[in-house]
Amino acid sequence: MNLAELNKVAKAMVAPGKGILAADESSGTIKRRFDAIGVESTADNRRDYRELLFRTTDAMKNYISGVILYDETIRQNAKDGTPLVKLIEQAGSIPGIKVDKGTKPLPFCPGEVVTEGLDGLRERLVEYRGLGAKFAKWRAVYDIGPRMPSYACIRANGHALARYAALCQDEGIVPIVEPEVLMDGDHDIDTCYEVTEFVLKEVFQELYYQKVALEGIVLKPNMVVPGKKSQKRASVEEVAEKTLRVLKACVPSAVPGIAFLSGGQSDEEATAHLDAMNRIGGAPWKLTFSYGRALQAAPQKAWSGKPENVPAAQRAFAHRAKMNALATLGQWQPELEKIAA
Ligand code: 13P
Repeated sequence: MNLAELNKVAKAMVAPGKGILAADESSGTIKRRFDAIGVESTADNRRDYRELLFRTTDAMKNYISGVILYDETIRQNAKDGTPLVKLIEQAGSIPGIKVDKGTKPLPFCPGEVVTEGLDGLRERLVEYRGLGAKFAKWRAVYDIGPRMPSYACIRANGHALARYAALCQDEGIVPIVEPEVLMDGDHDIDTCYEVTEFVLKEVFQELYYQKVALEGIVLKPNMVVPGKKSQKRASVEEVAEKTLRVLKACVPSAVPGIAFLSGGQSDEEATAHLDAMNRIGGAPWKLTFSYGRALQAAPQKAWSGKPENVPAAQRAFAHRAKMNALATLGQWQPELEKIAA
């Protein structure tokens, strides 16, 4: 492991004014997204859609530090035969790859899941490195409910995240460590805080046991927010303050950066929350985005599978990328949304 190199890549991924595009939807997830816009999920349509994002050249150059790809996409060529990975590199952005194999039910823990994909992971990492990946992603999910998440779930997922991260670093790849506390329930913001704290404490303990160098990872956590069905909504300031507080309590300052997931927040909420945290400032790590839905919902809708809509979709993507880039600097303003594409 060359820690200086890992640290250099991790820092580039969280460079101020830039963030990560999570375009690594699995086949099932991208089908759901395409169903919503009336587009058939074929390999060509998936390629066309992702190609339009990666060819949004100015936005990619200025605002997107890295792109997380899915196994299919890292092997795909653009319509003119250029590998999609090359398009990303030409825009000065770093290609990365989702390497987990999704979730499976966790025995004896009804309703809970554990992320799988450790078997053969080293060999897959070697192959992905050959295809151009400089970083990887593994997502663990924790649902909040009655007596959930269980300790079994928190431990099993923390251990798997750490095993994955160690393998990545051993193969010269920066691991994005993604423990996601879901916002699906009716819990309040303080319950999210408590669960997020427990989860992060466990993840960092496991990373330590597996000898992962914190200087060579990027953390991708949820923000501390109330469940979607909660009656008690939280202000932007409360989300920013509680998210920063739990991170300061759990994440060592050796970690170069934290790139949040959007997790089902609206596009503007995800931007406003990130902006508010960066306005508070004083954090020991860079705070940026690694958004899937909050970067792509608008371009997907604008595109709707029609070639003539590509420029509108690219404008929508460029706009969200710019808004979130401003949020990494604490320079976003709600009024800027109105000057939209
Ligand atoms: P969302 O921003 O849509 O939550 O996706 C980010 C991601 O990569 C989830 O694993």
